[in-house]
Amino acid sequence: MLNKITVVGAGNVGATTAQRLAEKQLARAVVLVDVIEGVPQGKGLDQWQSAPIEGFDTRVVGSNDYGPAQGSELFVVTAGIARKPGMSRDDLVRTNADIVKQVSEQVKKASPQAIVIVVSNPLDVMCWVTKQVTGFPRERVIGMAGVLDTARYRAFLAEALDVAVEDIQAMVLGGHGDTMVPLVSYTTVSGIPVGQLLDDATLKAIVDRTRNGGAEIVQYLKTGSAYYAPSAAAAQMVEAIVLDKKRMLPCAAWLEGEYGLSGMYCGVPCKLGRRGLEQIVTVQLTSQEAADLRKSAEAVKQTMGAVKL
Ligand code: APR
Repeated sequence: MLNKITVVGAGNVGATTAQRLAEKQLARAVVLVDVIEGVPQGKGLDQWQSAPIEGFDTRVVGSNDYGPAQGSELFVVTAGIARKPGMSRDDLVRTNADIVKQVSEQVKKASPQAIVIVVSNPLDVMCWVTKQVTGFPRERVIGMAGVLDTARYRAFLAEALDVAVEDIQAMVLGGHGDTMVPLVSYTTVSGIPVGQLLDDATLKAIVDRTRNGGAEIVQYLKTGSAYYAPSAAAAQMVEAIVLDKKRMLPCAAWLEGEYGLSGMYCGVPCKLGRRGLEQIVTVQLTSQEAADLRKSAEAVKQTMGAVKL
C-alpha cells in the first residue's frame, strides 16, 4: 500500500478512478484535484462516506490546489476538456496540452519522485508533454491506453466466441486512436490461436470495432466519453505498480529505438512494477502488424507537431 495517490481531474474518469483505487485500498489516502471549486471536495467526501459500507480504509479528499497532494508517490492525470463543436482536433490538442503542462508543473513541485500515469487525450501526445515538462525519466511517465483498448478487444472476442473473458489473452499496441494495432497473431483463447476459432471476416469486424471502441460509446452518450472501462484500466496499472506485480501490459511508453521508433510515446508491451516502467518487451511482429505500427506511430508524430513546448 502507498501512502498517497493523487488523481488530477475529478471528472468522470478521474472520480471513478479515485473510487476504484480507494476500494482496492492501494493507498492510505487518495487525493482528488480539480480546478472546479467544490467538485473534488464534494466527490471526495462522498467517496469517503462509502468507506464504512464498502469496507475500505482509504481516506479520499478533494482539493483545488496541490497542498494535500504533496508527497504523493503516484499521480493519475485525467485533466482535460472534451472536444467542443467547431473545435478542430489540433485546437483540442493544444488546449489539453496547456492543461497537462500546468498539471505537470504542479506534479513536479508537489512530488519530484512520483510515478505519473497519464490518461488525458490525445494520450500519446499528453504523455510526451508530461515527460518534457516534469523532466521525469521514462520509467516514471507511463500512458494508459493499451489496457483499455485490449479490454475492449477481449470483451468483443469473448462475446463472439461465447467464452469466459478471462480466457482471452491479447494485446493492442500502437497509438491510442483509430490506427491502434490489435495483435491478432498473438491473440489466444486459453493458449489456442484465435484464428483457429474465428473466421477472418469476424476477426476483422472485431478489430474494426475495437479501433472505434471509444467513438461507439461517445455515440451513445452524446455528451461525454467512456469512463468505466478507462478508470478500470488506469486502476489496473496502478495496482501492478503499487503491488510490484511485474505485470506485462500494453502501455504507452517513451521509445528510444524499440520497434524502430524513437523520440515519441507509443503503445508497446511493458513490464510494470514498483519502479514504474521496468522493461519494454520487444516481440516479433508479422510484416502487416509492423507496418500498421509504423502507420500508427506516424499519426502520433503528426499530432505532436500541433504542440509547441
Ligand atoms: N487541473 C485540474 N483539473 C482540470 C484542469 C486543470 N488544469 N483542467 C480541466 N480539469 C478538469 C475539469 O474541470 C474536469 O472536471 O478535468 C476534468 C475532466 O473531466 P471530464 O470532462 O468529465 O472528462 P473525462 O471523461 O473524465 O475525461 C478526462 O480522460 O479518457 C480521457 O479523453 C478523456 O482527456 C479526457 C480525460
